[in-house]
Amino acid sequence: MAAGRPWGVIAVRAPASYCYDRVPDVEDALADGARGGAAGLRTVQAEINYLETGVTDSIWYAADSWRSHMPLNPQIMPIQDVRSVRDQMSLDREGVHLADAHCAVKDFLDREAAAEVFIPELEEVVRGVTGAKKVVVGPMWVHRHSDRSERFGEAGTTYPGRYAHVDYSDLSGPIAARQMLGDDPDADRLMQGHFAIYNLWKAISEPPLDTPLAVCDATSVAAEDLMISYVVLGPPQDPAKEFKLQTNMVQHNPRHRWVYFSGMNRDELLMFRGYDSDTARFRRVPHTAFDDPSSGPDAPPRESIDIRCVAFFD
Ligand SMILES: [Fe+2]
Repeated sequence: MAAGRPWGVIAVRAPASYCYDRVPDVEDALADGARGGAAGLRTVQAEINYLETGVTDSIWYAADSWRSHMPLNPQIMPIQDVRSVRDQMSLDREGVHLADAHCAVKDFLDREAAAEVFIPELEEVVRGVTGAKKVVVGPMWVHRHSDRSERFGEAGTTYPGRYAHVDYSDLSGPIAARQMLGDDPDADRLMQGHFAIYNLWKAISEPPLDTPLAVCDATSVAAEDLMISYVVLGPPQDPAKEFKLQTNMVQHNPRHRWVYFSGMNRDELLMFRGYDSDTARFRRVPHTAFDDPSSGPDAPPRESIDIRCVAFFD
């Protein structure tokens, strides 16, 4: 990616109330050892690509990466393996949950056939975990291959994203939720109530993973760590068909608690909160792929599926 290229994008710093409003809870969480420092969890050290501090105009062109402006600040950070304490990770607190989720899909490249099986599977899991009255899974998933894979670059797939980010901002979260509802006749009523967007992430290669997904405990993320950023999607070299999504990049903060679940398999589902209409909740979970030094050189290249859903509670 090109660094330092000005693209004239107007970006704004996240407002003070942007990420969490329950600061006392954050302090409590840190004080009572929820960050795991005293828990003796296995921890790996790995590079996390943060946004360079103070950058307010980052933009990533998914199909034309050379046009991007995303100066990075790589930091070696501890990443805790929370596999052994998975029951202590809460969607409502850390914003992270590992669910059991049998996967009957044989071939994710056959999208039509896979969708018939996969989407209902996910809806059921999310309803069971969250208790939501209605769950809508977005229509498209992202299929990724590790750069070590012989299938890297395969049509219809992409690569692990190695930069700390949150998919949705305060602006784009409700827009995405509304889009997922499509022509639902109940959409207006549903959008008036409480809803949350969750990222859903599944490994479909055999464990261990060479490039697992690390997620950042929402209780360790401060509002000022998040910077408005943009992702531009659409066919390369065709500005008329591009569309821009507002997201958040993340600035380094040594208080960040990064975690992952080692050895994920295709019958598990990593869920994490991407947006919540209730601003009193911990509702932002930065995430990034990382190279796990403990997986060893013989670890199979990671293949994964990620998709988003919106859950309605009223
Ligand atoms: Fe993401």
